[in-house]
Amino acid sequence: MKTVETAAGTRRLHPLPLRIMHWLNAVAMIVMITSGWGIYNDSVIIGGLHFAHALRLGSWAAESLLWHLAGMWLLMINGFFYLLYGLVTGRFRERLFPIGIADLVQTVRDTLHLRIAHDDLTRYNAVQKLLYVVVVIAGISQVVTGMAIWKPVQFSGLVSLFGGFQGARLVHFLGMAVIVGFLVVHVALSLLVPRTLWAMLAGGPRIPRPVRRRRIAT
Ligand code: HEM
Repeated sequence: MKTVETAAGTRRLHPLPLRIMHWLNAVAMIVMITSGWGIYNDSVIIGGLHFAHALRLGSWAAESLLWHLAGMWLLMINGFFYLLYGLVTGRFRERLFPIGIADLVQTVRDTLHLRIAHDDLTRYNAVQKLLYVVVVIAGISQVVTGMAIWKPVQFSGLVSLFGGFQGARLVHFLGMAVIVGFLVVHVALSLLVPRTLWAMLAGGPRIPRPVRRRRIAT
């Protein structure tokens, strides 16, 4: 047996399936956040914190809930395929890892000095990688806590894992806050470096595919 390496051609930086899933996810997240704010207003967690009518999807809590449950299917199905795609194609390994502490410190320093050129679109900096990993985990946590709140009897084990219904609600609320915080930074950065936005729309530059190794009998 010997191992041969075959040139695997090129592909877009952001392949079409990834772009479709990214933008579907953006729509799903916006539906989930704005309809969630409509539901929240009915029974607030932080006294005095209400979301203005203009920011809510649904004119009253029950209508917001209908939007929330509809958006949930898009978020869950699309999110499932995004995770599968990232794992099977090796994209997560290739683009989001490793995350080095020294790189993190250097990127934070550069950002504080307003050096956010992002010249090389083919590599994410350490802060970007960390934020993407955090938001993916927050998305998964939202689905899990959402299930616990939606069906507390069927998922009673899950509810007790969060210390009860209100605990699951609180973690769900904090997950939303993490995702909204991410979105503010994420959208601001993509507008500051519009080449990245264009690449997420059109695919970006062509880059070599990872080399394929095959074992053949000799
Ligand atoms: C709604 C407005 C949004 C805009 C304008 C936007 C824009 C972008 C852009 C430009 C990139 C590429 C970054 C680069 O090449 O440096 C990107 C990647 C990414 N975005 Fe967004 N995004 C949005 C919403 C979201 C949401 C809601 C999430 C998740 C909660 C999200 C998660 C991600 C992730 C995980 C990546 C990395 C994808 C990968 O390479 O595998 N984005 N986004």
